[in-house]
Amino acid sequence: MSPPLLQLGALLSSMAMISNWMSQMLPALVGLNTTRLWTPDALTQVSPKEGWQVYSSAQDPDGRCICTVVAPEQNLCSRDAKSRQLRQLLEKVQNMSQSIEVLNLRTQRDFQYVLKMETQMKGLKAKFRQIEDDRKTLMTKHFQDLKEKMDELLPLIPVLEQYKTDARLITQFKEEIRNLSAVLTGIQEELGAYDYEELHLRVLSLETRLRDCMKKLTCGKLMKITGPITVKTSGTRFGAWMTDPLASEKNNRVWYMDSYTNNKIVREYKSMADFVSGAESRTYNLPFKWAGTNHVVYNGSLYFNKYQSNIVIKYSFDLGRVLAQRSLEYAGFQNVYPYTWGGFSDIDLMADEIGLWAVYATNQNAGNIVISQLNPDTLEVVKSWNTGYPKRSAGESFMICGTLYVTNSHLTGAKVYYSYSTKTSSYEYTDIPFHNQYFHISMLDYNARDRALYAWNNGHQVLFNVTLFHIIKTEDDT
Ligand SMILES: *[C@@H]1O[C@H](CO)[C@@H](O)[C@H](O)[C@H]1NC(C)=O
Ligand SMILES: *[C@@H]1O[C@H](CO)[C@@H](O)[C@H](O)[C@H]1NC(C)=O
Ligand SMILES: *[C@@H]1O[C@H](CO)[C@@H](O)[C@H](O)[C@H]1NC(C)=O
Ligand SMILES: *[C@@H]1O[C@H](CO)[C@@H](O)[C@H](O)[C@H]1NC(C)=O
Ligand SMILES: *[C@@H]1O[C@H](CO)[C@@H](O)[C@H](O)[C@H]1NC(C)=O
Repeated sequence: MSPPLLQLGALLSSMAMISNWMSQMLPALVGLNTTRLWTPDALTQVSPKEGWQVYSSAQDPDGRCICTVVAPEQNLCSRDAKSRQLRQLLEKVQNMSQSIEVLNLRTQRDFQYVLKMETQMKGLKAKFRQIEDDRKTLMTKHFQDLKEKMDELLPLIPVLEQYKTDARLITQFKEEIRNLSAVLTGIQEELGAYDYEELHLRVLSLETRLRDCMKKLTCGKLMKITGPITVKTSGTRFGAWMTDPLASEKNNRVWYMDSYTNNKIVREYKSMADFVSGAESRTYNLPFKWAGTNHVVYNGSLYFNKYQSNIVIKYSFDLGRVLAQRSLEYAGFQNVYPYTWGGFSDIDLMADEIGLWAVYATNQNAGNIVISQLNPDTLEVVKSWNTGYPKRSAGESFMICGTLYVTNSHLTGAKVYYSYSTKTSSYEYTDIPFHNQYFHISMLDYNARDRALYAWNNGHQVLFNVTLFHIIKTEDDT
């Protein structure tokens, strides 16, 4: 065979292998465009049949980072431990590229909002100037109106600045991944000479920092709630439904817990589509009845308040049994400190980017809301914060990035009225409206993975989107 054909053969087997070990990820590897790989230009780069090749193109049309991987022939790979190590590294780099894509999408979504605000601000500024010019001819009232609007928008300026910091961070990560890919490409020539340990450490460090970065970029201050979208209409007026924020993107099981009392049947659906069509996949018969509607599924377990007690239960869906239970000290229960609608909603369990939380009230804190971070394994309280917001005057509450957001009612006209940051132990009054389409909200919980609020709105299961603004200060500010 002539050399070009040999190379072609290597490429063919490589392609087959990639579909073997990465069939799941293949679609995401946008760079694996066969059309492009067959061009003479790419072929000249396909040298020895052993070792790995990484091609990282600068960006695709949407500005995302792309890595293309050509695998070595299978027999070489399975024999060579170093190749295996390298494969893992490459996989990590690809995973990081994907994560960055996700970040990009998220940031782009927020950016749309920022852009809109920016345009609005610029428009206002122009109008404002114009009015100032012919001030004398205009009514004072109009002038005043505009000035007020302008003032409202002014606080957005630092937020816009903040966004630019995030964008820079993403750019830097992209560059680092590109650099790392370049190193991996170079390895082929130095096979054996290269220090795998060092390479491994480098990938690990990048991975750690990327994870930190993602955490930070996911976190931010609640600015706006949009929607709702009605996913389904089912059940009684009161209930809960949720997905697991720690599940992988592919695993989108939905759990459904109708009514606030006298029930212990949890229904599970494999996907949102199955939930909508009513194709149940499993039911779980809990060992205890639950109280209220404020349960949460976190990392494969259901956390709920046991009926007629302030005991929190951790129930594993996979094992089908209780893994932990613990009384939440001093927490009122049995409609002593419920939300405005009652329904034994005394103890609200929730999860955010930071972990698992319980929100309740105690006599010690005069019936005001207490926030406790819980250890998800032992259910022990890690730390507590006493707020000054009376629990019985709260419609619902949810946690985003360690900040509790409280609505002032479960009825029409409700808004997010108060927030308490566990990071600074300080509160703020807020005015973030949302559309209570069906008039009675008995559950409202944030899901960090979906960046959405899951709500039970009078027998309708609805979703709201949230717009967060990232708060990033320095590299180690978390
Ligand atoms: C693959 O790349 C070629 C040229 O670079 C392009 O014309 C084609 O649309 C791409 N195909 C896919 C599926 O992206
Ligand atoms: C890459 O991501 C996939 C899916 O999220 C995961 O199964 C795999 O372990 C990750 N690989 C590495 C090396 O981190
Ligand atoms: C990537 O490599 C270029 C050139 O070698 C270097 O200037 C740059 O600092 C590197 N970037 C990162 C983030 O390591
Ligand atoms: C989720 O559960 C797995 C094991 O089931 C554990 O290794 C992991 O640390 C848990 N994650 C969190 C954030 O608790
Ligand atoms: C949330 O935003 C996503 C992406 O923009 C969109 O697809 C989805 O329909 C929105 N959901 C709601 C509840 O508005």
